[in-house]
Amino acid sequence: MTKPYIVAHMLSSIDGRIQTRNWPVRNLAGLFERTAETFKSDAWVVGRKTMQEFSSSKAHRLGRADASISRKDFVGRHSAKTYAVVIDPGGKCFWDSNMVSSEHVIEVLTEKVSTAYLKHLREKQVSYIFAGKTSIDLERAVTKLSKVFRVKTIRIDGGGIMWGAFLQASLIDEISHVIVPVADGSIGSPIVFDAPKGHTSHHAKALHLKSIKRLPGGIIWTRYRVEN
Ligand SMILES: NC(=O)c1ccc[n+]([C@@H]2O[C@H](COP(=O)([O-])OP(=O)(O)OC[C@H]3O[C@@H](n4cnc5c(N)ncnc54)[C@H](OP(=O)(O)O)[C@@H]3O)[C@@H](O)[C@H]2O)c1
Repeated sequence: MTKPYIVAHMLSSIDGRIQTRNWPVRNLAGLFERTAETFKSDAWVVGRKTMQEFSSSKAHRLGRADASISRKDFVGRHSAKTYAVVIDPGGKCFWDSNMVSSEHVIEVLTEKVSTAYLKHLREKQVSYIFAGKTSIDLERAVTKLSKVFRVKTIRIDGGGIMWGAFLQASLIDEISHVIVPVADGSIGSPIVFDAPKGHTSHHAKALHLKSIKRLPGGIIWTRYRVEN
């Protein structure tokens, strides 16, 4: 089976910060979407923290454990052709429906999640796949997305930890980086290609410039091929 083609799409200040809410520039969500849409992808993938901006904002309480639910992949009822995927190892995102705009939601979990959480996902018809016992194996996740959902192209939409994890796993084929003329300078806020706490060893990747485009407002959009 061939690995899906993976593009990491990101928008940052010139110093690589990605949290845009205090920047003196408007409609950055629109800019992110317009540039992202130029990549025809079967699925976009985000980290748990980013997905919590799109999943249910209500307070949810899980019911009792349900021993009849086994830890096997589950495909919810849906008629979508594209997918919104979240890497959510501990099952922290809750759902009111199984869609984010026109995309069907897929949760990528570890086997440490409770059966009560799986019951919540089943009730909402949210699909889920397992990609590790206690930690996420991204290669396995991507292979399952291809096998179970026939995903051939993936866009990684953030945040920093997610892009960093895919980079370290040598799974990114192409980087699309929109640079906004803002110097952020904040300390401790998320950055492009972040790493989980305590992660020290890493291997930098060589990039080959594919294109560079100047957009209105002094915005620069670069695309690179990643040498893995
Ligand atoms: N400017 C942009 O282009 C852009 C795009 C997207 C998001 N954002 C912003 O970025 C911020 C969030 O970014 P972030 O880096 O803090 O978080 P994130 O990447 O959205 O989510 C990180 C979380 O995802 C889970 N995760 C991701 N990769 C994993 C792996 N390989 N193994 C295990 N767990 C993994 C973990 O969840 P657990 O903690 O539950 O284990 C981890 O804490 C938000 O402010 C958002 O608005 C900006």
